[in-house]
Amino acid sequence: MIYDAGVTLAETWRAMERLVDEGGTRAIGLSDITLDRLKAIVAIARIRPAVVQVEAHPYLPEWELLDFCRAHGIVMQAFAPLGHGMQPRVTEDPVVAAIARRARKTPAQVALAWGVQRGTAVLTTSTNPGRIRENFDISDLPDQALREMREEIATRVRFNAVVDTGVPGFVPRQPT
Ligand SMILES: NC(=O)c1ccc[n+]([C@@H]2O[C@H](COP(=O)([O-])OP(=O)(O)OC[C@H]3O[C@@H](n4cnc5c(N)ncnc54)[C@H](OP(=O)(O)O)[C@@H]3O)[C@@H](O)[C@H]2O)c1
Repeated sequence: MIYDAGVTLAETWRAMERLVDEGGTRAIGLSDITLDRLKAIVAIARIRPAVVQVEAHPYLPEWELLDFCRAHGIVMQAFAPLGHGMQPRVTEDPVVAAIARRARKTPAQVALAWGVQRGTAVLTTSTNPGRIRENFDISDLPDQALREMREEIATRVRFNAVVDTGVPGFVPRQPT
């Protein structure tokens, strides 16, 4: 990856807008962006970002970013909705686990349902066919569970350093 430090994000956005004008693409978006930088782009954008892809899960809920996306009709796509399966594991969180027991779902299903119910598009993966099926089989959580997820989970972790390093496409895997 070679970055041109002389080109601003705003200039890049304008170039991407021209791709839409020319019919090269229908929609453009951003990834790994902070709220402040997103606000700066939305302020100058002729064509609004269709989607913003950021790390988001119960340990990094990014509520302010989500509120801003909602207010501007931008889809927030949550990558690593299961925290990349890394420690501390979202799927082992006591609040998530207790909700899962009550709902007769797995902790992963609770984390994914929470992501969908709060209005994000969750981008998860699994190498295991059983877990892939499990991850499709989600259903709405009760309001009380959503409140508990928001108010009782205090752990905050960013698992993926891409926002700081700018190195894309990194999907950490635990050694098996
Ligand atoms: N924009 C960016 O900079 C950026 C950076 C990184 C990734 N991404 C995107 O994000 C996508 C998702 O990343 P991800 O797959 O690492 O996120 P994730 O869904 O948070 O984590 C997947 C991990 O959770 C495990 N897992 C999946 N389903 C499970 C279940 N039901 N129960 C328990 N564990 C489960 C998987 O292990 P098993 O495979 O063993 O099931 C894997 O280790 C990637 O495809 C990539 O395109 C974007």
